[in-house]
Amino acid sequence: MSTQNLPYQNILVIAANGKTGRRVVPLLEERGVTVRRGSRSSTPAFDWASRDTWPVALEGMDAVYVVYQPDLAVPAAADDIRAFTKVAKQQGVRKVVLLSGRGVQEAHSAEQIVADSGLDWTFVRAAWFSQNFSEGDFAFMTQEGVIALPMGDAAEPIIDADDIAEVVAVALTESRLNGEALDLSGPEALTHDQIAAELSKAAGREIRYQPISSDEFRAGMVELSVPDEYIDLLVYLFEVTVSGVNAKPTGDVKRVLGREPRTFSEFATKAAAQGAFDARELSRG
Ligand SMILES: NC(=O)c1ccc[n+]([C@@H]2O[C@H](COP(=O)([O-])OP(=O)(O)OC[C@H]3O[C@@H](n4cnc5c(N)ncnc54)[C@H](OP(=O)(O)O)[C@@H]3O)[C@@H](O)[C@H]2O)c1
Repeated sequence: MSTQNLPYQNILVIAANGKTGRRVVPLLEERGVTVRRGSRSSTPAFDWASRDTWPVALEGMDAVYVVYQPDLAVPAAADDIRAFTKVAKQQGVRKVVLLSGRGVQEAHSAEQIVADSGLDWTFVRAAWFSQNFSEGDFAFMTQEGVIALPMGDAAEPIIDADDIAEVVAVALTESRLNGEALDLSGPEALTHDQIAAELSKAAGREIRYQPISSDEFRAGMVELSVPDEYIDLLVYLFEVTVSGVNAKPTGDVKRVLGREPRTFSEFATKAAAQGAFDARELSRG
């Protein structure tokens, strides 16, 4: 594909060091567009908590990959997204690709704000990421060998962040997905027993799932000094998953990329080879 034909040539990737952002950046570079990495430590910096960083980070950009922190479900999100789209428009941005959640009412409200902004948009509603177990919030559990979560026997069609990144790269550089809300999932819904079995197989040692109550989860996180608001957020997101609204796999990865999404087993094999599941004991207290 010739770069000259791409409608968005200068692209800001927010959370460029994060699980999807760091995968989106090289894919955009392969497409020949100019990428600005958004991070609290980049130059220029981008920080959701400091609105004065936004205009400079957005200056000269045609499109933005919006990864909100910590999650579109927090109370500040609506106001931040409203202010952000306003600044983006003022700075000449034409397109927003918003990373969103599936079945989360607050995330859908934030989407509506973007849709009403007058900017072109694509919403990427993602299932839980496979990489939560290798480089995200649950990685320490995998390393310790016990996935202790209040997920009961709920099944989630967990998705590989590499698949999300490929879809996002299309949405950021082309206009064919403008005005679409994509529901991205992996190929199959897995219970956490099944997830633990796949992790065990890949790691070559036992990693078991221990279903716990929300209160037990909360107590464990407090012990690790996780802030209360973040614990509340996770418990809320677990409840959405347990309700079963997102259990059914979707076909949008295949529709956009023309192939099936990667399986959790493929993810686990690759992450294990990179040492992500090597046994480790967390020091507490
Ligand atoms: N994880 C999932 O399973 C999942 C599923 C569906 C949707 N999502 C959505 O994906 C988004 C990302 O979630 P994630 O937890 O997976 O994170 P992530 O994409 O891995 O991003 C983490 C990065 O965010 C940056 N960051 C942290 N605070 C920031 C701030 N105040 N301003 C700017 N950047 C900041 C940090 O980079 P620097 O230190 O370089 O600034 C960090 O590397 C959330 O909106 C979430 O709702 C996640």
